[in-house]
Amino acid sequence: MARGNQESMSSATHPDYRPGLEGVIGGITKIAEINSASATLTYRGINVHELAEKSTYEETAYLLINGRLPTAHEFEHYKRTLAHERPIPESVSNILKLIPRNIHPMDALKVAYSALAAYDPDYAAAPTDHAANVRKAERIIAKAATIVAAHWRICEGKEPISPDPELDTAANFLYMLSGERADEETVKVMDASLILYAEHTFNASTFANRVTVATLSDLYSGIVTGIGTLKGPLHGGANEEAMRMLLEIGTPENAEPWLRSALAGKKKVMGFGHREYKNGDSRAAYLTKMAKKVAEKKGVPKWVEIGDIMTKIMVEEKNIHPNVDFPAAYAYYMLGIPIDLYTPIFVIARVAGWSAHAIEQLDNNRLIRPTCIYDGRSGVPYVPMADR
Ligand code: SDX
Repeated sequence: MARGNQESMSSATHPDYRPGLEGVIGGITKIAEINSASATLTYRGINVHELAEKSTYEETAYLLINGRLPTAHEFEHYKRTLAHERPIPESVSNILKLIPRNIHPMDALKVAYSALAAYDPDYAAAPTDHAANVRKAERIIAKAATIVAAHWRICEGKEPISPDPELDTAANFLYMLSGERADEETVKVMDASLILYAEHTFNASTFANRVTVATLSDLYSGIVTGIGTLKGPLHGGANEEAMRMLLEIGTPENAEPWLRSALAGKKKVMGFGHREYKNGDSRAAYLTKMAKKVAEKKGVPKWVEIGDIMTKIMVEEKNIHPNVDFPAAYAYYMLGIPIDLYTPIFVIARVAGWSAHAIEQLDNNRLIRPTCIYDGRSGVPYVPMADR
């Protein structure tokens, strides 16, 4: 049955049912708030734009996990812990060498975190042990960039590069990919994008992560669930699909005809639309400005030009705005990041949000188990195999 028919029938016969759980309250959180009307996003009460401007990914991760900004002393200690935790065990690196090279890095991330769970010194801790969960979160956050870069290099037939203890997450990621230290502006764009991607309330992957840990499973299982859920193009996978779409469009001249034909064909335009924002995603606006600066510096205006044309038409024709994945796509492209790494970069950032939510869930846990409406056959007799 077509989705439209199913939904209209459901809303007519079951007025309490919300397809896709739209508008349903899935829980209470103190971690972040989306204000749809004003299109603002805060982490622990602080506007995400202010964090992208003044903070770093590490400080933002501390804020998300611990509920407040660190003091100078706490931050020094936190950064040392992250630096210490960044390397991955050689055996996990070897697992990444053993798996097929043609798999998407998101699948490699699931493999790596599944294996890493077994190496965590708090492996045997109770799932509701808050202090152990905070330590696990530090290890999970520290290792994401190392896994992504190591797997990428292995697929390229190169040896992984160890993290540099002097560098933070964004700079280390870029360094571990190429073996060269990136310039300050590139690191700033990467760092700000990590801050903007770090957390976003009850999005699909975070909700799935909370469902997993709420069975009294562990943080790593929640992370693996989150990665699997983020991978799809309706969620985090959209940043890669958006760039492939931009490459297909190719030129600013082709943007309008391509888009009008896509809309006429009822195609989903990747990097546009959002369940929670109907007046635009403020992260997209912020990242678009950053992408424009990168375009100017690199002398490559075409992606921004195509982006502007598409945004104007989408808003005028459909009142649908770009989401964070749209400018992230062409910003990363202009920085020379391989397209298959865009959604993994989302993971490098979102492990902070997922971990904070898993800890919040386990600190005050109840199994998450919604109900459903049965719409199938009833009273069906069992027919023996020989009679079918
Ligand atoms: C992320 O939830 C989060 O917070 C996620 C996220 C995070 O930080 O965690 O913000 C990250 O996942 C961003 C979203 C990335 N996905 C995409 O860019 C894929 C393209 N976008 C869409 O498929 C869509 O907008 C969703 C999936 C994001 C939202 O889907 P909804 O809320 O279920 O809306 P819908 O698909 O039911 O669309 C409602 C209407 C439809 O038109 P009608 O049938 O009512 O006429 O809007 C249209 C849709 O066709 N529409 C689009 C569109 N998005 C919505 N039409 C064309 N292109 C689009 N992108």
